Amino acid sequence: MNRVYIKTYGCQMNERDSEAVAALLRARGYRMVQDENACDVMLLNTCSVRDAAEQKAIGKAANVSQKRKHNPRFILGILGCMAQNRGAELLDALPDVDLIVGTQKFHQVPDYLDNLRAAQEAGTPIGNTIIDIAEEAGSQNTIRDHVLEESQVTAFVSIQQGCNMDCAFCIVPKTRGDERSRPMNEIVRECEQLAERGVREITLLGQIVTSYGRRDYEHTGGITPFVQLLEHINAIPGIRRIRFTSPHPRGFKDDLIQAYGRLEKLCEYVHLPLQSGSDRILKAMNRPYSRDRYKQIVDDLRRVRPDMYFSTDIIVGFPGETEDDFQQTRELFEACNYDMAYVFKYSIRTGTPAATLEDQIPDEVKEARNNQLLAILAANSDRRNATLLGTTLEVLVEGPDKKGRGFMGRTRGNRIVHFEANERLIGELVPVKIERASTAVLYGSLILAGVESPESKA
Ligand code: SAH
Ligand code: F3S
Repeated sequence: MNRVYIKTYGCQMNERDSEAVAALLRARGYRMVQDENACDVMLLNTCSVRDAAEQKAIGKAANVSQKRKHNPRFILGILGCMAQNRGAELLDALPDVDLIVGTQKFHQVPDYLDNLRAAQEAGTPIGNTIIDIAEEAGSQNTIRDHVLEESQVTAFVSIQQGCNMDCAFCIVPKTRGDERSRPMNEIVRECEQLAERGVREITLLGQIVTSYGRRDYEHTGGITPFVQLLEHINAIPGIRRIRFTSPHPRGFKDDLIQAYGRLEKLCEYVHLPLQSGSDRILKAMNRPYSRDRYKQIVDDLRRVRPDMYFSTDIIVGFPGETEDDFQQTRELFEACNYDMAYVFKYSIRTGTPAATLEDQIPDEVKEARNNQLLAILAANSDRRNATLLGTTLEVLVEGPDKKGRGFMGRTRGNRIVHFEANERLIGELVPVKIERASTAVLYGSLILAGVESPESKA
């Protein structure tokens, strides 16, 4: 009765949180399973960023509790952002949920499951849902342990929780709380341990990573704590690539821009959320930069790394967005020449400042604007991929492709590549000659001469 299935919605932060919960549960004697039909405990780690994400998890929970009605020993839990956002109110829609645990209490999940199971053993009808969505000082330090799959070569490392930016559309400050950073030495130690276990690529995670440690560490010689952290990780021999998400444009001062020229492991791929290209809308969104300033950052980064890849987040249909505002977004979107982008239709989040604004935009308009940007993006991606044909790129071999198309890995620019290889090369950086491309995937062949092992360069 100890088989646990965790389903994760939303961002990479959530994936990392789920992984940490899994590690804690395993240490407590629970067994993690991949088959949702063969579990005794189902935990949904939820997302609240858009309404659709909440509805998906609610639908799933309703469906599962319906199916499991006949099984009094089955436990259903809702974790994370939606638990934090809605709390006990979730029971109106989902009366059969046993456990509701917020974003600062993931580490309590094993205790709560033990309690629920003990109550079942004692024959106490559960009926009493455990709800814990309190704040907890220091909770950013509880996401530590990893469950690594055998031969896992990439890993997420949480460096910070929460956000104090108050963008007018965003529920995250409510669901994730105040900005809190983990100690730098603990993060570096975690990366060293991951390297010892074969991890070669680290992605640092936080809601606003560029603000990392700003209240806890000094700027030394014009270098922010975030860039200091990058320097430390760059110095770990086994680590070959560093990425991070998500930064904020305001964090791209000279020290971070120059870091792309001097930290050789920092990949030339930047996710730089724009949200809107209209100064008027940026202001209404409470985003503290202008379109000119944003474009300046893009240009500065391309000057340091001409081969830089850019990705972004855009919201179309923010309240009051006129055709002219959208055209400005469209124009800047084209000028930045993104290689990747996440385009979202504005979704009303109760409790955020934008929710009560007049002039909400009709769905069809959002849909049309969304499609225009996606079409530009597909063309950009094809154009970039065309420039890669015939070139040889450094690929980190991650493992067999799940759909059986040989092996897969990624370039430093975060392009997925498929190629023939063998198990021995997992975790190696190999040269792959690019022969073919779809919009989302590159295909190529391994150039065998010159295969280097991680040790040879480290
Ligand atoms: N800094 C965070 C942002 C979290 S939200 C991070 O880790 O990425 C991710 C993206 O969702 C935002 O950048 C924004 O583009 C989008 N988003 C946030 N709130 C939204 C809303 N109410 N409607 C539509 N998209 C939204
Ligand atoms: Fe949300 Fe803005 Fe922070 S998008 S996570 S409030 S930087």
